[in-house]
Amino acid sequence: MSLTQHLSTSISFSSSSFLSSSGFTFRNRDVSLPSENFGICRCVATPQEEKTTYKTKVSRNANMAKLQAGYLFPEIARKRNAHLQKYPDSKVISLGIGDTTEPIPEVITSAMAKRSQALSTLEGYSGYGAEQGEKPLRAAIASTFYGDLGIEEDDIFVSDGAKCDISRLQVLFGSEVTIAVQDPSYPAYVDSSVIIGQTGFYEKDAEKYGKIEYMRCNPENGFFPDLPKVSRADIILFCSPNNPTGSAATREQLTRLVQFAKEKGSIIVYDSAYAMYITDDKPRSIFEIPGAKEVALETASFSKYAGFTGVRLGWTVIPKELLFSDGFPVAKDFNRIVCTCFNGASNVVQAGGLACLSPEGRSAMQKVVGFYKENADIIMDTFNSLGFNVYGGRNAPYVWVHFPGLSSWDVFSEILEKTHVVTTPGSGFGPGGEGFIRVSAFGHRDNVLEACRRFKQLYK
Ligand SMILES: Cc1ncc(COP(=O)(O)O)c(C=O)c1O
Repeated sequence: MSLTQHLSTSISFSSSSFLSSSGFTFRNRDVSLPSENFGICRCVATPQEEKTTYKTKVSRNANMAKLQAGYLFPEIARKRNAHLQKYPDSKVISLGIGDTTEPIPEVITSAMAKRSQALSTLEGYSGYGAEQGEKPLRAAIASTFYGDLGIEEDDIFVSDGAKCDISRLQVLFGSEVTIAVQDPSYPAYVDSSVIIGQTGFYEKDAEKYGKIEYMRCNPENGFFPDLPKVSRADIILFCSPNNPTGSAATREQLTRLVQFAKEKGSIIVYDSAYAMYITDDKPRSIFEIPGAKEVALETASFSKYAGFTGVRLGWTVIPKELLFSDGFPVAKDFNRIVCTCFNGASNVVQAGGLACLSPEGRSAMQKVVGFYKENADIIMDTFNSLGFNVYGGRNAPYVWVHFPGLSSWDVFSEILEKTHVVTTPGSGFGPGGEGFIRVSAFGHRDNVLEACRRFKQLYK
C-alpha cells in the first residue's frame, strides 16, 4: 500500500494544581521492566462450549439480543488468540486493548500491603465500609483534582472503576432517557445504553443503534461535535481526552458544550479517565467551565495513572447543584444506586488510592503517565515519518492513525498478519472510526520500539 498523506496532528491543552502541566516535562525510563516476555501475548485456551439440549423457560433479555457481536476488546483478544494459533512462534505485541503494562509504584503497593496486613489484626480489621468511599480518600480526591473548583468531599463517590460507574449511571437514568455519544467513542457507553434499554435496534446500514444521537468527531471538525446539528438528548456522554481519538477538548469547546446542555436541559456525563495525560492548558475537569455544576457530572479513574486496571479504583463526582426536572438532586439518587448496587470499593485498594494522592504517590503517577506519553511520542513520530495523518497522542495515550478509504478491520488484519502487532480497528468505536486504527501507547518500551520498527518495515 502506498500512502502519501501529509502530517496533520491535532494538538490540544489547563487547571487543578495537581494536574498542571509542569509534571510532564521530564522523561522517565525507570518504570519500564526488562521486557523479554512482558507484553508478548501467549495463547490462552478458551473453554470448550458445552453442548446441551436442555433449555430453561426463561426468555432472553431482549436488550441483550440487540447487541452486535462481542464487546470490542474481547473480540480483539479472540482474533489475537486465533493469530497465535496460526503463528505459534510469532512474537505478538499488543498495542490494542489499552491495558497498562508498567509496575505500580512501590509507595502505592506498600500502602496496600500495610492495609492488607492490618486486616489480620483485631485493631486493623474492618468489614463493610461506607458505600460512597472512605472519608480521607474522598477528601483527598476533592482537594487533589478539584481543589479550586468548589467540589466537596461529599460530592465524590469512590468506586471500583469508571467502567462500573458508567453502568451504574445508566441504572440511575433508566431506560426512558435518550443519549448522545461522540462518534467514535469508548464502546461501554453505547453497549450499556443498549443493555439498559435506552435504544432501538441496531441498524446495519447506518451501523448505528436507533435512538442514539451519534455526534461525529473527525479531523474536519477538530474532533469536536458540530453542536448546531446535534439533536437534543437527555444525557450527553462526553470523553476528553478522548478514547479512541486521543483528542482533548479546548476550554472554548467545553464552554459551548455546557451552554448547549443548558439550552437543551441535558445532563453531561463527562469521562475524564485520561485527564492527567493533558500537558497543555486544556481543561482537566468539566467543572473548570463556569456553570458546569448545574449540567454535568464527571467520572474518573486511577486505572491509567497508577496502573490500577487490575486493582480497580475510580470515582464519580456529582455536584449538589445538578438537579432532575422535578428538582430532585441527581446525587441523592446516585447515592441510592450506590447503596443498592455496590458495597464500596475494596478497603485495601482505597489505601492504595490514598497513597496515590500523597506527594510521593502523585509524583510516581506523573512518572508513569510521562513514560506512556513518551511511548505515544515514539508511535506518533513513526507514523508521521511514514507519511500518515496522525491524531491524538499529545494529551492522551492513544494515537489515531488515518487510512483514508480503507476498512479499519482490513487494516487491523493486515497489520496483525504482517507485523504480529495488535492494534484496534477504529470502526469498533462507532461508524465515525471507520478508516482509522487506534494504536495504544501502553506497552513496555522495548515492545513499543519493536512494534514501530515493524510498522516502518510494513509501510516503508
Ligand atoms: C474513556 C474510558 N473510560 C473509562 C474506562 C474504564 O476505566 P476503569 O478501568 O476505571 O473502569 C476506560 C478504559 O479504558 C476508558 O477508556
